Amino acid sequence: MAVGLTTRMSPADPAHIAEAARCLRAGGLLAFPTETVYGLGADAANPRAVAGIYEAKGRPSFNPLIAHVADLAAARRIARFDARALALAEAFWPGPLTLVLPKAADCPVADLATAGLDTIAMRVPAHPVAHALLQAFGGAVVAPSANISGHVSPTTAAHVLSDLDGRIDMILDGGPVEVGVESTIVGCFDTPMLLRPGGLPREAIERVLGQPLASPPDDPASDTNQPLAPGMLASHYAPRTRVRLLAEAVNPGEALLAFGSAPLPGIEAAAAVLNLSEQGDLGEAATNLFGYLRALDAAAIASGASGIAVMPVPNHGLGEAINDRLRRAAV
Ligand code: TXA
Ligand code: MG
Repeated sequence: MAVGLTTRMSPADPAHIAEAARCLRAGGLLAFPTETVYGLGADAANPRAVAGIYEAKGRPSFNPLIAHVADLAAARRIARFDARALALAEAFWPGPLTLVLPKAADCPVADLATAGLDTIAMRVPAHPVAHALLQAFGGAVVAPSANISGHVSPTTAAHVLSDLDGRIDMILDGGPVEVGVESTIVGCFDTPMLLRPGGLPREAIERVLGQPLASPPDDPASDTNQPLAPGMLASHYAPRTRVRLLAEAVNPGEALLAFGSAPLPGIEAAAAVLNLSEQGDLGEAATNLFGYLRALDAAAIASGASGIAVMPVPNHGLGEAINDRLRRAAV
């Protein structure tokens, strides 16, 4: 295991971003902020560094990683873009969209990072720290979310530290992230497919494509063997406390993850309450989601609460990603 390292927490200033790029060049493991969630980065072309990511996270090696680059020109040296993929990249990069594309013939990314597939997931993040780091480093950085495999994704540097302290070299602290759920993943196959709902709403993508996104043939949440997005295992993003969805009342002994301002029977007796967005704003709810799940989990454990009840969240826009993560948290 990659334990026994001293994990340095550093502010994301220019000097530490330069140090972080040197850390990547030396094969190190480094957490950094993106606009969606914090990522755990390694040099995509260095097989030993890539193996270190799987070790540090306890991630199954059949689950491939996203390659992050500074811009579309860099992405085109790694993957092949057809007209539709180009249109999506031009519309949404930098931003919370990952494209699954055929690998370029001389793709420099280590085979382990793509789990032997002939496709590769590519993303150009919009966060200024991620962008500066990718530019300073120069190559592709593979980066899953910077959490122990199966845990809730980190939206602050403190979340990263609580999962990965002693397992990685460095954390660049760029403050809390903005979007709060991971990137939307689109498979650029013959029929473009929504492999994971995320920080870019489906509706925006469909507008650019001029056609609806297909769904994977099997519900990935019910298939743990060969899903199209192999990381989309049913139980994921899981707090330790039991999560109960679509709550219309708080049962005795439960904590509550609320949404909106409608009154809820039993709320006055809840063990703890956090509201994703009192105004019912889905962007605000996405930003708060993972941090509030972590906080309610800790509060529930501390108070001996029996579970976390979750109020319904509408399923349009960012609500699709929020509901996807909540369903996985409830498995
Ligand atoms: O917002 C994000 O996407 C964050 C930040 C750090 O960029 N990253 C992230 O990575 O969420 P991760 O590893 O937690 O999720 C990547 C997902 C997994 O479900 C994986 O199976 C899928 O992308 N994936 C990677 N390569 C793939 C490929 N070639 N085909 C299909 N799915 C792929
Ligand atoms: Mg993840």
